[in-house]
Amino acid sequence: MTVRAVPVGIGHYLPERVVPNSEFEKTIDTSDEWIRGRTGIENRHFAREDERTSDLGARAARAALDDAGLNPDDIDAIVLATSTPDLTFPSTATMVQAAIGMTRGFAYDVQAVCAGFIFATATANALIVSGQARRVLVIGAETFSRILDWADRTTCVLFGDGAGALVLEAQEGTGTTADRGVLSVDLHSDGRFRDILYVDGGVSSTGSAGYLRMLGREVFRHAVEKLAQTSETALEKAGLSSQDVDWIVPHQANLRIIKSTAAKMGVPMDRVIVTVQDHGNTSAASIPLALSVGKERGLLKPGDLLVSEAIGGGLAWGAVVIRW
Ligand code: UT7
Repeated sequence: MTVRAVPVGIGHYLPERVVPNSEFEKTIDTSDEWIRGRTGIENRHFAREDERTSDLGARAARAALDDAGLNPDDIDAIVLATSTPDLTFPSTATMVQAAIGMTRGFAYDVQAVCAGFIFATATANALIVSGQARRVLVIGAETFSRILDWADRTTCVLFGDGAGALVLEAQEGTGTTADRGVLSVDLHSDGRFRDILYVDGGVSSTGSAGYLRMLGREVFRHAVEKLAQTSETALEKAGLSSQDVDWIVPHQANLRIIKSTAAKMGVPMDRVIVTVQDHGNTSAASIPLALSVGKERGLLKPGDLLVSEAIGGGLAWGAVVIRW
C-alpha cells in the first residue's frame, strides 16, 4: 500500500491594507512604472501594527480547515514556514495551534525563507508517509513589512504580508502517478550564497531583528537557473515531465522569473498561476496564497497535476509535485 499526502483543504488571509506602488513614489526615488516593469508587482498587503504573523497564519488555518470541513482537533500536526516569527520562541506554529483551539498533536516552525512552503510541505509529506501524522496543516505566514528598510528602494518595494494554509491528509494510493497527493519532492540549499539574501540582525549576532538585504541581480540569476531545473528534477522523480503539468504554481517574487521558468519548462503562461501583481513577494506565504487564489478563481481542479517551485535566502530552493 502506498500512503499519499493528499490536499483536502486550502485557505488564505491577506491583511486589509492594500498598498499600491504609487505609495512608494512619495518617500523614495522609484516609480510605479519601474516596479511594474521590473517585477510585475502592482499592489501588496501590509499587516496592521498589532497584527502578528500568527494572527495571519491562524486566519489562513481556519479558512483551510473550513474548506476541508475539519475541526482543529482533527489535525495531528502543524508545520509552519516563516522567517518573520512573532517571537524568537516559542514557535509561531504553537501560537497558531493555541489561536485555532487545537489542543492535541504537535506544532513547529521550519525556516527556509522564500522556499519555506516547499520545505514545510516536504516535512509534512514525510510525517504522513512515515505514519507519524494522519493530517497535517501546512502553513506559510509572513509579515515581511517588519524587516524592510523603507529607505532601501532595491528591496522595500518588493515584499508583502500574508498567509496561506494547506491541509494534507493520509490517503491510500496505488503508487502510480494517477494518485492524488504529493508525488515527489526535490530540495536543495547552498550556504555559500548566504550573503546575497539575508537579514542583517539576529538573536546571537546583533540582538535585534535586523533588515532584509539582497543583491537582487545575483538572486535573479540563481532563480532563473535553478527553478526550472529543480521543477524538472521533481517531475522526473515522480516519473513525469513538464508536458504532464496542468499548473505551475510558482513562488511569486518576480513576473520575469516566473515567465522565464515557465518558458524553460515549455509550459505556456496560461498554465501558470500568477498572483505577484496583487501580493508582491510574501516569501513562505506566496505558494499557499497562490494555491488558494487559484482555487477561488476556479483554476485548480481535483486531479490536476501541479508543480510548485521556490528559491530564497540560504540559498534554499526546491520543488514539489502534487496531484490536486
Ligand atoms: O523571494 C526571494 C527571492 N528573491 C527574488 O527572487 C528576487 C530576485 N531579483 C529580482 O527580482 C530583481 O533582481 C529585482 C526586481 C530585485 C531588481 O531588478 P533588476 O532588473 O535585477 O534590476 P537591478 O538590480 O539590476 O537594478 C537596475 C537599476 C539600478 O540602477 P543602475 O545601477 O542601473 O543605475 C537600480 O539602482 O534599477 C535601479 N533600481 C530602482 N529604480 C527605481 C533598483 N530598485 C529600484 C526601484 N525603483 N525600486
